[in-house]
Amino acid sequence: MEMLKINTSKTSDAVTAAEIEALKVPAEQANTLLRTREGAGNDFLGWVNLPSSIDAAQLAAIQKEAEALRSKAEVVIAIGIGGSYLGAKAVLEAMSDSFALLKKNPKKPVVVFAGQNISEDYTYELLDAVKDYSIAAIVISKSGTTTEPAIAFRLIKAEIEKRYGKAEAAQRIVAITDKARGALKTLATNEGYPTFVIPDDVGGRYSVLTPVGLLPLAVAGVNIAELVRGAQDMEKATADSVPFDQNPAAIYAATRNALYRKGFKTEILASYEPKLQYIAEWWKQLYGESEGKEGKGIFPASVTLTADLHSMGQYIQEGERTLFETVISVTKPAHKVVIEADKENLDGLNFLAGKRISEVNKMAELGVALAHVDGGVPNIRIELPEINEYYIGGLLYFFEKACGISGYLLGVNPFNQPGVEAYKKNMFALLDKPGYEKESAEIRKRL
Ligand code: PA5
Repeated sequence: MEMLKINTSKTSDAVTAAEIEALKVPAEQANTLLRTREGAGNDFLGWVNLPSSIDAAQLAAIQKEAEALRSKAEVVIAIGIGGSYLGAKAVLEAMSDSFALLKKNPKKPVVVFAGQNISEDYTYELLDAVKDYSIAAIVISKSGTTTEPAIAFRLIKAEIEKRYGKAEAAQRIVAITDKARGALKTLATNEGYPTFVIPDDVGGRYSVLTPVGLLPLAVAGVNIAELVRGAQDMEKATADSVPFDQNPAAIYAATRNALYRKGFKTEILASYEPKLQYIAEWWKQLYGESEGKEGKGIFPASVTLTADLHSMGQYIQEGERTLFETVISVTKPAHKVVIEADKENLDGLNFLAGKRISEVNKMAELGVALAHVDGGVPNIRIELPEINEYYIGGLLYFFEKACGISGYLLGVNPFNQPGVEAYKKNMFALLDKPGYEKESAEIRKRL
């Protein structure tokens, strides 16, 4: 079975075959630039060959550390934000039972996340919730200086040291950071934490297949070897030697850019599987941070269907006509639930008797796609055979490769994020961080 199929036939009311064809050579060239590392942001292209460069020894080292944490803790707190958070969160959600918390014997350890916000209540509730459990932490920051995870880590580190003492804390805290720079690197060295390195040439949002994503996932019991194998196969399937018509990443990148050029400025990533919701959050970061710059870029939005048909559905069907939709369509559910016949049929649902829930979901999906297309919302369909580590690994790499190609087609550097500094400057000025004295005085006048 193919890893993933892309179907762009339902964009034909909005863009002609010729308009997509016109982007074929530029998309191929963009893909080649990614391989030869000759395009913009070329010092951040380590992710392109990352899957094929991961060897058994690297996976074994991650697995070994994961086992050490698993043996010590019932709850492992993964601390990070943005690219140092969303990949692990997305894959973990996708691979987890939706009701794991209600299971009589929940899988241990439970991996929870911190440092992705500065909410006092979230922090309090987390520290309170882990009171009666043994804990460990994985602190992740490429720069090693990001405020949100640094605050969370300060608190969690103190809690771990208070409970277990400094020496044992060094067995319960793992740092994932730059090989040489940043406050976290210094701290990890001083405290003697086991450390994994985020390669210099892999940016945060492209780092899910480094220890950033792989260690928390291995701790949670996700099969990281399969995740990487899926990404490796997708690396081959999207290489620049693969002809455009057979390269799903090139087709996706070209189609979304053709749509953008025709005024379709918002892309909604839709899925009919709620456990893919965080895949969409990861995707939004990947595309939003990579493309939204210089006054340009498709705005990445997401919906989970059919739930959001009862909230966003009205807008998608009849609101401003600048939207297109990309649906992740899962072919085969992992479980089987059949709708039974009911003698009284008071709810009038006997016409569904004998059908699986997934058949109803699929007809909803097909019906929605046509309704939205008829309403002026072009539809791209990405078919994923199943939700498992292998296919999810492939999907992640597919989106990364398409994002690199797409950013080049748009004419931006998809591997920087200069815009994320603006809020930090204001926040530090408002918090009177040393060195921000002038900005502090000025910003106060504006409040
Ligand atoms: O993609 C990115 O580079 C960002 O989203 C970062 O991942 C995020 O800002 C966190 O940075 P760091 O890992 O340096 O703490």
